[in-house]
Amino acid sequence: MDRTGIFAGDDPFVIARRWLAEAEPLEPNDPNAIALATVDADGLPNARMVLLKEIESPGNGDGAFVFYTNYGSAKGREIAATGKAAFVLHWKSLRRQIRVRGVTSREEGPHADAYYASRSLKSRLGAWASKQSEPLSSREALMAEVAKVTLQQGPVPKRPPFWGGIRIHPVEIEFWADGAFRLHDRFRFTRGSPQTGWTSVRLNP
Ligand SMILES: Cc1cc2nc3c(=O)[nH]c(=O)nc-3n(C[C@H](O)[C@H](O)[C@H](O)COP(=O)(O)O)c2cc1C
Repeated sequence: MDRTGIFAGDDPFVIARRWLAEAEPLEPNDPNAIALATVDADGLPNARMVLLKEIESPGNGDGAFVFYTNYGSAKGREIAATGKAAFVLHWKSLRRQIRVRGVTSREEGPHADAYYASRSLKSRLGAWASKQSEPLSSREALMAEVAKVTLQQGPVPKRPPFWGGIRIHPVEIEFWADGAFRLHDRFRFTRGSPQTGWTSVRLNP
């Protein structure tokens, strides 16, 4: 196995965290933006950007990638129905991508409360006001909703029950780096379930 240099290491969560840290000073905006893919009830794929908020690797193998959203949104409903999601993270500055596929669980506990509390008051109230992915009659209607929840929730809103984290527990993680003449380097880590160990293989570009 010639997995050296930027690909070195046995724990793909550690490699992912290292690549993100390398991208952070180079990307002009949102180096943690991921294109999140789900499928709807007809099997039709759906993709949108969200922000990757944590790469967890507690050491017992059960690491996860965490983002936050409205559980009633299209993505929230699709994930609730399938229990699966995938995402790709691409850094133009580094010419690298990471692809992740896995099973999902909700983060509705202290982690979600702490992350919600860390957001600006306007963002916290926005989470209450937005029926994400539902039709909206006008911008004014949304602003009226913000005004309403501002009165209802006061200066320290609690986390809405319909808003929280989603963990993606990967069964597959691929690291890709640009190579000369399109001869890119690719390494795919796989495991049968989130409880078992990883094996890695080099892939053709
Ligand atoms: C850079 C970027 C970051 C975003 N981050 C989030 C996020 O962390 N959570 C979220 O719910 N939506 C985020 N959005 C908005 C989503 O792309 C999307 O519009 C919204 O979540 C509704 O998606 P859905 O209808 O497929 O559920 C982000 C959009 C962009 C462009």
